[in-house]
Amino acid sequence: MWRDLAPVGRFEATGGYRRYSYGAAELECRAWFAEAAAARGLSLDADANGNLWAWWGDPAAGDAVVTGSHLDSVPDGGAFDGPLGVVSAFAAVDLLRARGFKPAKPIGVAAFVEEEGARFGLACLGSRLLTGAIDPAKARALSDGDGVTVAEAMASAGLDPALIGRDQSRLDRIGVYVELHIEQGRAQVDMDAPVAVGSAIWPHGRWRFDFDGEANHAGTTRIEDRVDPMLTYANTVLAARKKAKLAGALATVGKVICEPNGTNAIPSRVRAWIDARAAAEDTLASVLAGLEQATHERASRDGTTVTVTRESYTGEVAFDLAMRGRLAGALKERGFGEVPVLATGAGHDAGVLASSVPTAMLFVRNPTGVSHAPGEFAEMADCLRGAEALAGVLEDLAR
Ligand code: GLV
Ligand code: MN
Ligand code: MN
Ligand code: MN
Repeated sequence: MWRDLAPVGRFEATGGYRRYSYGAAELECRAWFAEAAAARGLSLDADANGNLWAWWGDPAAGDAVVTGSHLDSVPDGGAFDGPLGVVSAFAAVDLLRARGFKPAKPIGVAAFVEEEGARFGLACLGSRLLTGAIDPAKARALSDGDGVTVAEAMASAGLDPALIGRDQSRLDRIGVYVELHIEQGRAQVDMDAPVAVGSAIWPHGRWRFDFDGEANHAGTTRIEDRVDPMLTYANTVLAARKKAKLAGALATVGKVICEPNGTNAIPSRVRAWIDARAAAEDTLASVLAGLEQATHERASRDGTTVTVTRESYTGEVAFDLAMRGRLAGALKERGFGEVPVLATGAGHDAGVLASSVPTAMLFVRNPTGVSHAPGEFAEMADCLRGAEALAGVLEDLAR
C-alpha cells in the first residue's frame, strides 16, 4: 500500500506532497482507496460530502466501528499526515482477517475529504459537512486560489454539491471513531513511545488579516508620503510571535498574498493568515484580542486599514474518556504496556467527529518531529506497531 501511494502527488523538487482535494493527485489517491477496498472485498461507499468509506460487514447493522483519516495534504506536506491512518486502517483489517477474527459489528475504513483545508481554506471540510458543523451553502461557496468553488470542484469530480450537509442516518450507524495519525511533534521521541493515545486537541483557528494601503512608485514616493500595508503586516507578524510566546500559545503566518506583488512598487494590499492555537480557549482569545489591538494601533500610525476575518475556529476537544480507557486497556492486554496519553496542537477529523460520536486517537512516533513538511517521518517498525495497535483496538471494539 505504501509503495503504491508513495509517488502520487509527490513534488520532486522538494520531496513534499501536493494532494489537493478533487485535484488530479487526490483523485488518484481516491482511486487507490477504491482499489484497496475492492482488493479486500470491502464495499465502497462514497458519501454525498466527498468522503470515502469501505465496509467490512453491513453498515446498516449499526453501531459500526470506524477508523481512518485523510488523503489530502498541505502544500509540500509529508507522506504520513493522513495516509498513515488510512493505510493502517486497511492493514488492521488484513491483520484481523489473517487471525480469523469475525467482527460482531461492522468495521468501516474512512477517508475524509479536505482535512487540511489546503485548497478551500477550511480544515476538516468533509467531517464538518458530515456532522453539520458548517452550513452547506457556505461550504459550496468556498473557493480556491483560482476562484474555483467547492460546488464546481465537486461537480467536476462527479458529485452533486446540492446534496452536501449533515448526514444523520450515516452518523446514527457509527458507534465509535478511532483515528490513527503520525505524531506531529517530538513528544513520543522524548517519551521513547512508539504508540500513544490522544487525550485532547487544542483550540485553534484561522484569521485572515487584510492590510490595505496605497500602491505607489518604489523610487519616487517619499517615505512620509507612503501608505505601505507591508509595514503593518510585518509588525503584525512580529507581534503575533511575541504575544503567543508570552501566553504559551502558538501563532504562525504561513500564507501571505501581496498585491500587486511588484518589486518596484509599494503594495496596495497584503493579505495574511494567522493560524493560532493554545491549550485553553481563553488564552487563545486573549492572544487574538491583543494582536488585533496592536495591529490596529500600528495601522493608524502607518495610515493603513486592517480588516480581520475569523475564517474558522475549533474549540477545545477532549476525547471520550471511556474510549480512552478502552484503548489503553486493549493495548495493555496486547502487550503494549502503559501507553502515554497526549494532547495535540494539530487538528483532526476526529476532533470534529467527537461532537457526534465517541471518538479517540492513536499516535505513531515521528523521529524527526517534523510535520506539514517533507521531513515528516516514521520508521516502518513503528508504523507496523501502529497498525498492530489499531488492529487490537478494533478487535476490542468490534467483538
Ligand atoms: C491540520 O493538520 C492542522 O492541524 O492544521
Ligand atoms: Mn495535517
Ligand atoms: Mn492529518
Ligand atoms: Mn490535521
